[in-house]
Amino acid sequence: MPVSSFLQWLQDTGFSTALRDSTWAEPVIETIHVLTLTVFLGFTVLLDLRLLGVAMRHKPVSEIFGELNPPIIGAFLMMLTTGVLLFCGDPVAFYGTIFFRVKMIMLILALLNILIFSSTLGRRFSEWEQNPNTPAMAKLAAILSLVLWAAIIAAGRAIAYAVPPP
Ligand code: HEM
Repeated sequence: MPVSSFLQWLQDTGFSTALRDSTWAEPVIETIHVLTLTVFLGFTVLLDLRLLGVAMRHKPVSEIFGELNPPIIGAFLMMLTTGVLLFCGDPVAFYGTIFFRVKMIMLILALLNILIFSSTLGRRFSEWEQNPNTPAMAKLAAILSLVLWAAIIAAGRAIAYAVPPP
């Protein structure tokens, strides 16, 4: 089934119509999307600053990861769920905007960055985590993370300017 037919089918479902017709669904879901973003971003920035060797320099990296990963993962899953719900409310229009597409591509890149870090330096924490000054690859992963999440947020915000209110 081509993407456009799938999106049209989704748009015509009772679920999508109910989301669109509801006065409260979108503002409530979007508020949760943004509130969980604050939790996700706040803790992610802390992790990235440690990977850059800027903050909490004398704490072992795995200890910081152990403490911050649960709220980061929880907030991320909530953002994913609320994001999909927002999308379901108006799939044809959202998919039609460049900002939504760019946001999804950058989201994949940000997840790839996490995957690459976890399967390389993240497997060898004991070799470098006590050192206040982190390896160049850890710094690169942190910079990529900060840049990508900032760009994802900017693209998310821009969607509203490309999709006129119903
Ligand atoms: C997980 C990382 C994500 C971040 C950091 C993020 C961030 C944002 C931000 C900052 C906004 C703007 C909120 C506003 O204007 O009030 C937004 C809106 C939006 N997000 Fe996300 N988002 C994420 C995931 C997703 C996912 C996975 C989807 C869908 C598959 C999604 C779909 C949307 C849609 C459709 C809007 C526009 C809502 C509107 O303007 O009415 N988001 N996002």
